[in-house]
Amino acid sequence: MGEILGVGVTHHPGFLGPEENLAYFLEETLRSARVPAHLKETRNWPAPMQAEWGADRGRTSASEHRRRVVDGFRAVRQRIDAFRPDFVVIWGDDQYEQFTEDCIPPFAVFILDEIRVQPFQSVEYSPGERNAWGEPVDKTFCWRGHREGASYLTQGLIEAGFDIAYAYRFRPGARPPHSFVNTLLYLDYDRTGFDYGVVPFHVNCYGSTVVRSRGGLGHLQSTESGVRDPSAPPPWRCFELGRAAARILRDSPWRVALIASSSWSHAFLTEKTGWIHPDVESDQRLLRALRAGDYTAFRDLTIAEAEAAGQHEIFNWVCLAGAMYELGYQPDYLEYVETYIFNSDKCLATFAPAR
Ligand SMILES: [Fe+2]
Repeated sequence: MGEILGVGVTHHPGFLGPEENLAYFLEETLRSARVPAHLKETRNWPAPMQAEWGADRGRTSASEHRRRVVDGFRAVRQRIDAFRPDFVVIWGDDQYEQFTEDCIPPFAVFILDEIRVQPFQSVEYSPGERNAWGEPVDKTFCWRGHREGASYLTQGLIEAGFDIAYAYRFRPGARPPHSFVNTLLYLDYDRTGFDYGVVPFHVNCYGSTVVRSRGGLGHLQSTESGVRDPSAPPPWRCFELGRAAARILRDSPWRVALIASSSWSHAFLTEKTGWIHPDVESDQRLLRALRAGDYTAFRDLTIAEAEAAGQHEIFNWVCLAGAMYELGYQPDYLEYVETYIFNSDKCLATFAPAR
């Protein structure tokens, strides 16, 4: 019989770099011609946003924001170490990195022997030498894959009726998705190593904007809105996939940590706030449901609701919610870091059998 630990984290790229860059996405968004002129004036921002911005463009708030998230990663890491998984499955989104015009799979498992990356190079918001750890810009990280576990999970999902794509390598010349890479960099924030097998599991979260906005701020950098891309897999499907993954891995010989990796509402995806701050009300509603172990609130989201709330990436958490629902787990650690100016609300959590 397998054993499962549930985990939720963020892969927000801001923590790779120096603290003074943490408001990068807001600064970038404010340059966009699509942001209404009145929202470029701080006096028109919601009061909590003005307070967080303060007199120093958010520098003071950045320290606290980062400290809480990093502490959250340390707490989550302790629980993973205590659990001693054979491998971790990371549900993460590809943001126009591996999957572009050639093919956008709804779901895809990477069946790998290893993951080898140089994360401080070749990313437009890469901090280079100014990374948070002061590590060389060409530092190579190598994590173990878990071919057998990845293949077993893929096979089980196919037999359960999920048409899962898979890949035996990252596409040559294309960036490995930062949803996986950043998650691993942050889970090993203190650089003690992360010696567990890793199974990256792609979920098409960006759906209607994945190509059109290049999985990011493309819509704010152009005045054309472009043709809508076909949508993400609906939340009910992600939820059912999570349930099936839990059943399959529970019947496996392994100890597995199921990790959802993403921030919740993203400012740059939330049109109703003029893209300047996340939809904190919608995130609080999901947070209340998560705290109460009411996972069906995630299942019952619609694509339209999630996209209107800038919660595109929540689909990773919907997979996790399905798994926790199936197992009857409850959150036993939960840290929620709300923000108006650092692009997205972040939630870090672990889940265990209800006592
Ligand atoms: Fe993401």
